[in-house]
Amino acid sequence: MNNKYVFGLACIASLGGFLFGFDTAVISGTTDLVKDQFELGDLLQGWYVSSGLVGCVLGVVIAGFLSDKFGRKRSLIFSAILFSLSAVGCALAIGFTDLVIYRFVGGIGVGVASMLSPIYIAEIAPREARGQLTSLYQLAITFGILVAFLTNAYIQDYALSISTADRQGYFSVIFGSEQWRGMLGAETIPALLFFLLLLTIPESPRWLWSIGKKAEANKIIERYQIQDFGSSDEKSKKPSINYFKAKGIKIAILTGAVLAVLTQTSGINAIMYYGNSILQKGGADSQTAFYGQTLIGVINMAFTFIAIFTIDKIGRKKLLFVGVSIIIASLLLVGAMFYVNASTTLKMIFILTFVAGFAFSYGPVIWVLLSELFPTEIRGRAMSVAVLSLWIANTLVGQFVPWLRTHISESGVFWLFALCCVPTYFVMNYLPETKGKTLEEIENHWLSKNK
Ligand code: BGC
Repeated sequence: MNNKYVFGLACIASLGGFLFGFDTAVISGTTDLVKDQFELGDLLQGWYVSSGLVGCVLGVVIAGFLSDKFGRKRSLIFSAILFSLSAVGCALAIGFTDLVIYRFVGGIGVGVASMLSPIYIAEIAPREARGQLTSLYQLAITFGILVAFLTNAYIQDYALSISTADRQGYFSVIFGSEQWRGMLGAETIPALLFFLLLLTIPESPRWLWSIGKKAEANKIIERYQIQDFGSSDEKSKKPSINYFKAKGIKIAILTGAVLAVLTQTSGINAIMYYGNSILQKGGADSQTAFYGQTLIGVINMAFTFIAIFTIDKIGRKKLLFVGVSIIIASLLLVGAMFYVNASTTLKMIFILTFVAGFAFSYGPVIWVLLSELFPTEIRGRAMSVAVLSLWIANTLVGQFVPWLRTHISESGVFWLFALCCVPTYFVMNYLPETKGKTLEEIENHWLSKNK
């Protein structure tokens, strides 16, 4: 990627992914602390966790409309404001209701950013680097997850290290006696940074075109040397189409949505949210489980680089095929290791190969595909259908994993996840290989299915 402007813009938009990763993973270190402090039963503890996810669902619902109407940039700024409000609000929450409200607000931010960051990147990227640049977004998600695991651990250590006598004043409440406040509040720094950096980026020229602001779009295209933009003649000759009624577009939306659900029913977040407890069940002590969870975060991030460097060369479909095959084999093996009660190391090895397989396939490929599959005019709304399906599936997996672990055992859960991945091979038949195509060429592929 040799256009440094576009690379810079993609990095700024990717910060939305960092906050998405941080916000969803930070909860893992706070659940027990919040439960004890507010004396929560199982249901209220579940509500504390899912309030953020419910916010995500709402965020995605409004993001499509907001981004098509007010533009990509303003919608991203809106998400940055929500992230900042949520982080400060959680750190200073007066009671449990307050806390849940601020988690919900942050969740809306995650929902909005999870759609708009990849859309923005895909709309400014040249075709030969679009996969690579959008994968930066997934890299940022994985980095956010890892940083959340690490800050949680650091704050927890700090809290345990200060004696009760020293626990006076706001600082020691936030980072000492009620350290969950510090964990959640740490997000303020990247959230404000995201807000400030967003003020410096231009609006997406593709969106400006789609609402008829062609002169403004052209200025941005020139200034930032944005390439692969359909020529003005081509654009103005385009017939008006009722996109949502077009058969090809319906197939595109359905394929995107099903694939989005499949990434979640692979069980990745069973590991991200409950990895610690799964490792302990597998025989690790709490200290080893903590290191194990951090290693999972590192592998998750490291293997995303494979996608960054290969997605525009070997294509989305090949990565998906290889990755899903590794995921299925690993999940079957993790299940088997639990079944025969093998050593913790063996269980850990196959959990890591599962995470690695996810990290270079499903993880980045889904965000790349969702941001490029749909025509610009309806990208926001079409993508919200798919991303909404993803968040609903995510919420359900998050909610039911503990129940499933009790009722069908640890091995049963992993085998079930393996089974859930199999339909991916079938769905892939409907996917065009989008590597090297302009967004306009991809749109024409779907529209040709109407004839
Ligand atoms: C998924 C998240 C998941 C993350 C793990 C993303 O692509 O959407 O649900 O936690 O990958 O890296």
